[in-house]
Amino acid sequence: EKAGYDHFMMKEIHEQPKAYRDTMMGRVAEDGRSVQLNELSMTAEYVKDIRKIHIVACGTAYHAGLVGKTIIETLARIPVETDVASEYRYRSPIITPDTLVIVVSQSGETADTLAALREAKRNGARVLAITNVVGSSIAREADDVLITSAGPEIAVASTKAYTTQLIIFYLFGLYLAQTLGTKEQSEIADVLGAMQKLPEQVQSVLDQKAVLRQIAESISKHDNLFFIGRGVDYAVSQEGSLKLKEISYIHSEAYAAGELKHGTLALIEEGIPVIALVTQEELYEKTLSNIKEVKARGAHVLGIVNAGAETEAAKSVDELFAIPKTLPLLSPAVSVIPMQLISYYASLARGNDVDKPRNLAKSVTVE
Ligand code: M6R
Repeated sequence: EKAGYDHFMMKEIHEQPKAYRDTMMGRVAEDGRSVQLNELSMTAEYVKDIRKIHIVACGTAYHAGLVGKTIIETLARIPVETDVASEYRYRSPIITPDTLVIVVSQSGETADTLAALREAKRNGARVLAITNVVGSSIAREADDVLITSAGPEIAVASTKAYTTQLIIFYLFGLYLAQTLGTKEQSEIADVLGAMQKLPEQVQSVLDQKAVLRQIAESISKHDNLFFIGRGVDYAVSQEGSLKLKEISYIHSEAYAAGELKHGTLALIEEGIPVIALVTQEELYEKTLSNIKEVKARGAHVLGIVNAGAETEAAKSVDELFAIPKTLPLLSPAVSVIPMQLISYYASLARGNDVDKPRNLAKSVTVE
């Protein structure tokens, strides 16, 4: 049942290239130049009237929603807010009939996310669900559903559900752009072309897992560490930090790289590991200067950078891991893979139950 892997988590990490392909299948036109989301019942007229979008989810699905915000705002220029579902209802969110509420849930059963969906509908908003389970409560109650074709996810730590949620956000963002005319057809085709390459790019990271195992084994000896990044790298850092905490029980924090000097830098001391995600060319120089700030205080920095940028980055970090380069907006779909593998191997090195971390359940059905 684990297909020769020691744990479901490792099996599911390796299923990602296939899960990406399955999630894109049938949703891209035959010529590869446009998106077709035939399962949506929303009309072009409705889409033109959307004034704002709320993305609501928990845990890893919330982290996918953080990237989703950037994707939709970049491609479709509609303002997006992303909320944790257990907070959403209690902040009196301004939900109007021209608000599209997107709920994201692997299981489709998370109590807070389901309650947010109901609250949205009560206020007259349309609800789009992104879920992995056909026939789940969330899939049944939403107005529209986009299924992530990840296949069953058994390990408590979510991996392929997160990455296929990203794939759906890219497709939906492109669908909005196409409908609203916020992007040229050629740009849409370029993004779709780059998306077709993601499965093999993910595979090439998986093929380097031995290197990540070594990195994880040295990390597993520490009790505290930091993840830093800017833009979507910050969003992926938050997911990396959650994954590591969840299964290795090592305390970590994810910080927006530019925010460190507003307090957290005080925690940087000799030898503390810092994992810096640096995939966004526009922010490259800025993040490198933040890396220098932590290095100057004795941090041991692992830089995760795009292939081709190693020489420049090597001057600033202690260790480097290069990932295949894709479009800046698509990089989370590649850069999260080393995070997943580092978490897995750190958990293993600490002798934990990787698939069933203490205190946690796969599906959280209480508020
Ligand atoms: O089934 P859901 O996507 O609604 O679950 C949400 C969270 O409970 C879930 O993502 C959790 O954070 C994972 N165990 C993280 O790996």
